[in-house]
Amino acid sequence: MIDQSLAPLPPMGYNTWNAFRTKIDFQQIVDMADVMVSSGMRDAGYEYLVVDDGWQASTRDDKGYLQPHPERFAPGIKALADEVHARGLKFGLYGSPGIRTCAMIYDAYDGTGLGSWGHEQRDIETFAEWGVDYLKYDWCEARFGIDQHLDYPTAFARMSELVASVGRPIVYSISEYGNSNPWEWAPGIAHMWRTTPDIEPSFASIQRIALSQRGLEHHSGPGHWNDPDMLQIGNPGLSLEECRTHLALWAMMAAPLMAGNDLRIMTDEVAELLCTPGLIAIDQDPLGKQGRRIRTEWTHHVWRRELSEGGTAWCVVNPLDEGVVRVEVDGTLVVDGVQTFDLDTTEVTDAVTGERFSGVELAPHASVTLLH
Ligand code: GLA
Repeated sequence: MIDQSLAPLPPMGYNTWNAFRTKIDFQQIVDMADVMVSSGMRDAGYEYLVVDDGWQASTRDDKGYLQPHPERFAPGIKALADEVHARGLKFGLYGSPGIRTCAMIYDAYDGTGLGSWGHEQRDIETFAEWGVDYLKYDWCEARFGIDQHLDYPTAFARMSELVASVGRPIVYSISEYGNSNPWEWAPGIAHMWRTTPDIEPSFASIQRIALSQRGLEHHSGPGHWNDPDMLQIGNPGLSLEECRTHLALWAMMAAPLMAGNDLRIMTDEVAELLCTPGLIAIDQDPLGKQGRRIRTEWTHHVWRRELSEGGTAWCVVNPLDEGVVRVEVDGTLVVDGVQTFDLDTTEVTDAVTGERFSGVELAPHASVTLLH
């Protein structure tokens, strides 16, 4: 049984995959850690810096140990974890339960035997020694080459027991894309489990994922979280407005928030959005109750999330590809940092221009998030 107290709130951090796939290296990740500090992300709560698939040398060493890629990670993973820790962040790494990682299958990554099957003890000890605080463990057709009947809970529980007993606190994040209803068996085995196939940088993908989470809400809570996949905020393919809706929906779902853009080139607007205090506060609400979509109209979707101390968060989304939707709000306060709502006059004020208007106009794919 993993220690659920390691993830009392949905984990927040950064992961290399969405922006870089396997094109990662030591210096780039140190630079990313620097930006997590200088942009204010670390102080806003983004705590883990996770190195996804692509850090490995093509083979294990002759004693069976995983090795960092000799050119791209020449100083080693322990040295990288030290750099990350020195910046007040925690360090995460990627592994797989079978004999292959996903990049070996889908990205033609040059490798043999990079999955942990039969090496679990050795690998978790290596990770702990390197200073890993977060393990992303990714299915990647793990049955292949092992046993066609290997079931998902068995595969992931093998590593779970070792994570729990290795003597270093490690958040255990598992990924089988929602194939086997992991929300039914993974609480207790992992701190978070993917509920969907990979997210893409498009509003359609974000919407598809958000809409597919209905009915899973009660499986998630402090120490054990549904994970609708990492953020695409700041990546090409999404407007700032769509990114805001993305973050708002993930906050409503109490989702882990793993940023996935190239932090070194992000605009101030994207950095500010990622750090939006009101949305992060909703995501990280200590009650840990995942919100749900309570209304689905052609012109708008309404989400509701129960917060601690009797509060409620509401999020209204315009799902249309064309057409502005006007939403009348009352008795509520806009928290996305752009507009405030006056409880007495029921007027909305734009915090930047001071312009006042009643109700909110939502552009296509835009949203408004309110606290009640
Ligand atoms: C799978 C996962 C992704 C990423 C890649 C790495 O596709 O779902 O999040 O970890 O593997 O190869």
